[in-house]
Amino acid sequence: MKIKLGGGVLANPAGDKRGRLDILIEDGYIKSIGSDVGSADKVYDAKGKTVFPGFIDLHCHLREPGQEYKEDIESGTRAAAKGGFTAVCCMPNTMPAIDNAAVCAFVLEKARQASAKVYPVGAATRGLEGKELTEMGELAGMGCVAFSDDGKPISNGAVMRAAMQYADTFGRFIMAHEECSDLAGGVMNEGQTATLLGLPGSSRVAEEAMIARDVLLAETYGLRVHIQHVSTRGGAEIIRAAKKKGIRVTCETCPHYFSADESFCNGYDTNAKVNPPLRTRDDAEAIKEALLDGTIDAIATDHAPHHKDEKQLEFALALSGISGLETAFSLTVTHLTKDADLIARLMSVNPARIIGKPGGVIKEGMPADLTVADMDAEYTLTEKSLASKGKNTPFIGQKLHGVVIQTFVDGQTVFDGGDSCA
Ligand code: DOR
Repeated sequence: MKIKLGGGVLANPAGDKRGRLDILIEDGYIKSIGSDVGSADKVYDAKGKTVFPGFIDLHCHLREPGQEYKEDIESGTRAAAKGGFTAVCCMPNTMPAIDNAAVCAFVLEKARQASAKVYPVGAATRGLEGKELTEMGELAGMGCVAFSDDGKPISNGAVMRAAMQYADTFGRFIMAHEECSDLAGGVMNEGQTATLLGLPGSSRVAEEAMIARDVLLAETYGLRVHIQHVSTRGGAEIIRAAKKKGIRVTCETCPHYFSADESFCNGYDTNAKVNPPLRTRDDAEAIKEALLDGTIDAIATDHAPHHKDEKQLEFALALSGISGLETAFSLTVTHLTKDADLIARLMSVNPARIIGKPGGVIKEGMPADLTVADMDAEYTLTEKSLASKGKNTPFIGQKLHGVVIQTFVDGQTVFDGGDSCA
């Protein structure tokens, strides 16, 4: 089977081939790129569209096993494909957690039928309890790309140091959820808005202090750490300074941290309840600056689908999380940049580099993991349009720019939202 993507503009900052070119896909691989790649069994007209190396999400929650009423691997990866993601790293806070070989094998088996490649992130500690390390060697051997207790911080510094050291012996690293529990504890960002709403706030210091701790561990012991969902100006500043010193730190943020702020909690909209919480407008601006200057390496979704019954509650009781796979690209185009090469770097090139997996480049001989998008198209986000079971997003009703048209994984069309001619 030969597929041709005709006349799209390649957003390919890590590759040699740029500009308006055809791509011929054969047997799942990119066979040739050029202005005359020959005929194909199926032709997609990509004129006026941008072709990206498939987006790779460093951080999502697929909820399977255990909470399939919120999401499962099939629905979650369908949402991923619709959002232009060809691969996703799924977090281990499932039920039971991905902290042993049996659960990891189950996830990998389910992932064989999925609409996106699934790279499990194994738990750093058993049961995500922050005490005893998991069998990281075995889990890494099965395919875990990193380790994390995401959803929960690793509060004990000695356990974190041991986790970083142990992961390193297997060529892996820790993805760190940064939150000092004693300084967090609120339900939204600490400050005037929380006070006016009468809600308990979580201090920004909760996040920044733990980022500082883990950057110091990385520096002192020469280890690598990846900071998850950076949400504050101070957090970005610590990482910027660490990178200048050559410390082995990478990081991600999520679209909601630059597209929204704590005012989204006004009216007690529980869809704006997320952890870390939406911060101030100034923080959102600082996150944008850090994305533009390379301090923040990647945009990840932290796709955290929840059931309506877990969100239609008093603000304090509702669960935290935003369904994000299907809006990440549009929120980025709408609120951060229309520079397609920068988007490719943040959503594909750097994520591939961080987890050490193929991708991030459109190149002959590579698996055909590609995302075709219309950067100029606009739409209004509706709950009905979401493929994810999680409808919990505060962006419903917003007019967004940038639409994913097709997604290909290993040359298979996993999402097609446009017209193709045979
Ligand atoms: O808001 C969040 N939801 N933050 C996390 O760290 C975990 C996630 C979840 O699993 O629901």
